[in-house]
Amino acid sequence: MITAYLLAAPPPGLKRQPTIIKSLKRQLTQSTQKLSRKGNTLSTLTTDPFNSGDCTSRKSRKPLVVITGASTGLGLATLKKVAKDGGFRIIATCRSSSMARFAKEGIFEDDNIRLRELDVTDGRQRLSLIQECESTFGGLDILINNAGIALRSVAEDASADERMEILNVNYISPMRLIALAIPGMRNRRSGKIINISSAAGIVGMMTVDSKAASSKDTNSPYSGHYYHMERLIRWTMQHSRATPETIASSILATMKARNPSLRIPVTFDAYLLYWFRRFFPRALYHWLMFKLLPSSGNWGLPLRRPRS
Ligand SMILES: NC(=O)c1ccc[n+]([C@@H]2O[C@H](COP(=O)([O-])OP(=O)(O)OC[C@H]3O[C@@H](n4cnc5c(N)ncnc54)[C@H](OP(=O)(O)O)[C@@H]3O)[C@@H](O)[C@H]2O)c1
Repeated sequence: MITAYLLAAPPPGLKRQPTIIKSLKRQLTQSTQKLSRKGNTLSTLTTDPFNSGDCTSRKSRKPLVVITGASTGLGLATLKKVAKDGGFRIIATCRSSSMARFAKEGIFEDDNIRLRELDVTDGRQRLSLIQECESTFGGLDILINNAGIALRSVAEDASADERMEILNVNYISPMRLIALAIPGMRNRRSGKIINISSAAGIVGMMTVDSKAASSKDTNSPYSGHYYHMERLIRWTMQHSRATPETIASSILATMKARNPSLRIPVTFDAYLLYWFRRFFPRALYHWLMFKLLPSSGNWGLPLRRPRS
């Protein structure tokens, strides 16, 4: 599931801007020509293609996109897809411990790519990244909040630390990044924020902890639940037609879309749950959901493994 936020297009009053920019451009061109005639050059404006054009016209530069958690999985697939497209400048970020993965994947800094360390939970790194985007690279156009962790566990089995960590990485930190990105986007009257979420974001899921599922603790009241849900999730993953590449294509389409929807389901299960949630009365939906899950009627009883 992708959640895309789009900042509004400029109001009619701002339509005079291009005229101002044209006149500034003309003045800059004239000054450059004068300097060139005197034997001087404006080399600082042209040495770094990633940074070029930021102080003249925003239209002359490629949109700047930040991807979090870009060294593996979906983030990496998105980075490759967007880099191949060639229409964007990308700041690919990941934790310092994962930076070496970029080189292993054949990803290095070039005219369109910068690599930066970002642990999304680190306030100093968040601030420094957004400041660099705004002051050095001409402003952030698209923020893709992809970094995330999964904790598949029933409430009773999750520790307080695990609960805080998942909340911090998946919710609090992306929100803080968004809060830092929005003022610049608001000033420019444009920008997109794309949050990679989960179908569990629209539908409360009875989940599974793979650690507990593989343990032999059949005395746990959740052993049947874990066992069957783990099998169901593994089966769903094996039979899913979605791949990181197909999801990355949807993200790229969202980046390019002029007016994307607020929520964009991108996998079959997300579509199914999205429409299920939307059109089924809540009571019926919860009843059906429980009935359809494997052996749900026996959850809470000692686990009897199927013969196969
Ligand atoms: N795969 C799925 O089936 C699925 C389903 C629903 C939603 N999603 C969501 O899709 C996104 C990508 O998932 P994925 O399958 O590609 O997962 P993944 O392969 O586990 O990648 C997650 C990425 O997040 C990064 N990350 C974790 N904690 C971080 C932190 N504190 N700061 C910065 N980066 C951090 C990881 O970096 P390190 O490599 O340094 O650990 C990794 O690059 C996640 O937000 C996930 O919740 C995935």
